Amino acid sequence: MDELYVEGGHRLVGELPIHGAKNSVLPLLAATVLVPQAVTFTNCPSLSDVDVALAILGNLGCKTRQNGTCITVDGATLSAVGIPDGLMRQMRSSIVFLGPLLARCGEATVSLPGGCELGPRPIDWHLSALEKLGAQVTESAGRLCVCAPRGLRGCELSLAFPSVGTTENVLMAASLAKGVTVLHNAAQEPEVADLCRFLNCCGARITGVGGSRLVVEGVARLHGCTYRVMPDRMETITYALAAAVTGGELSLVGVDKASLCPTLSVLEEMGCALHCEKRRLSVKAPTRLACARGVRSMPYPGFPTDAMAPFMTAACVANGTSVFTETVFENRYRHVDELRRMGARIRVNGRVAVVDGDSLHGATVQCTDLRGGAALLLAALAADGESRLGALQHLERGYPAWEDKLRRVGAQLYRIK
Ligand code: EPZ
Repeated sequence: MDELYVEGGHRLVGELPIHGAKNSVLPLLAATVLVPQAVTFTNCPSLSDVDVALAILGNLGCKTRQNGTCITVDGATLSAVGIPDGLMRQMRSSIVFLGPLLARCGEATVSLPGGCELGPRPIDWHLSALEKLGAQVTESAGRLCVCAPRGLRGCELSLAFPSVGTTENVLMAASLAKGVTVLHNAAQEPEVADLCRFLNCCGARITGVGGSRLVVEGVARLHGCTYRVMPDRMETITYALAAAVTGGELSLVGVDKASLCPTLSVLEEMGCALHCEKRRLSVKAPTRLACARGVRSMPYPGFPTDAMAPFMTAACVANGTSVFTETVFENRYRHVDELRRMGARIRVNGRVAVVDGDSLHGATVQCTDLRGGAALLLAALAADGESRLGALQHLERGYPAWEDKLRRVGAQLYRIK
C-alpha cells in the first residue's frame, strides 16, 4: 500500500478550485435509476466512491459515461434490481439505491452497506420509512429483498431523527409513488436540497425544498435533464483549515458560501480572517490559532459532524483548550489515537473530546476513515518535522486530486510506492 511522506511546517499560500460534492453526486447518481432517459451531471468530482456508484449503475444495466467532470447516465436500459454484496460493502451510501430501485422496478435486492466505521451504521429508519410507503422487507443470509407488489403509495411520515440517507431514499421513492407524501423532520443538509432540485428538474413535484417538511406529489414518470452538482462544502472546509493550521492564506474558488455558515463562525472564532465574494472564499490564518470553546455537531443547519475531525486538528495547534461534543455518530473519534502519536493532547469521555492546544510533531500514522484521514493529513502539514501517512484510500473517497492541490499551494509531500 502506498504511503505519503509529508514535511510539515510550510505555509500554504495560493488559490485552489473546489469540486462537486461527494455527498450530493452519490445520491444524484442513485436517482438516475428513476429516469428512463439520459441524464447529464456537470461539476462531478473524480472519486473512488463515484467509481463505485457508476459500477453499481452499470451492474443494473444502465449506460454510463464519464468525461472529466461530466457524467452521463442513461437509465433506459435498466435491467436488474440486485446490487452485488461486494459493491454494497464498498460504501455506506450504496443504500440510497434502494428507494429508486423500488420506485422504478417494484423490487430491490441489496445487502447491508459498508462504509466508514463510525459506529453501527444501521438502516432501520430507511426500511421502516419505505415500509410506510408500501414496501415489504425480507432478509435472508445478510441480503435484503424489498418489494412493493402493489406499488408505492404516498403517505404522511415523520423521521425520529433527520437522517440524510433516509430522507434521500424517501424522496426518491415518493417521486414515483401514487399520491402525495409528506415527510416531517426531514434532513435539511444542502445535499438533500440539491437532490430535490435535481428531481424537480426531471419533472418531480417536490415542495418545501431546504426545509424540514418536504411534500412530494408522485408523478407517473421522470424525464432526463442536465444538472450541475453543488460544490463540496467538506472539501472547502478542509482546505480552509489547511490554511488555518499552517499559518497560510488560501483562496478557494467555486464555493457555496450558504452551505458553510455553521463552520465559518468557528473559523473566525479561532482567529481566521475570512472574505467571501460570489463563489470565492479567502482564508487568512492568524499567527497562532485561538481555541474553539465549544463545538457541538448537530444535523444541518448545525455544525456538521464531518467537520469535527478536521477542526480537532486545528484545536491541537491552537492556544488554549477546545471542547468538542459529537451528537450524530457513535464513534467520530477513531482518529484521536493517531493524532496522539503526533503529540496531540486530547481527552475523550464518551462523545466529548477536550483538546489542550499545543504543537504537533511528525510521526507515522494510519488514516482511520475519510474525515479522520483529513484530520491526520492536516496534522502532518502543521507538524514540526516529517510524517508518514498510511491507508490513503480513505482520502481518495472524498478529496479529488488532493495531493496535486496541496502541492500547488506549497505543501511538501510525496507518495512512497
Ligand atoms: C450522510 O451519511 C453523509 N454521507 C455523511 O458523510 C454525514 O456524516 C451524515 O450524512 C450526517 O450528515 C453521505 O451523504 C454519503 P444519517 P448518512 O443517515 O446518510 C443513524 C462523509 O464523511 N442512523 O444522517 O449515513 C446513523 O448510524 C460521510 O462524507 C440510524 O440509526 O447519515 C448515524 O448515527 C460520513 N438508522 C445517524 O443516524 C438509520 O436507518 C446519522 O445518519 C440511518 C441512520
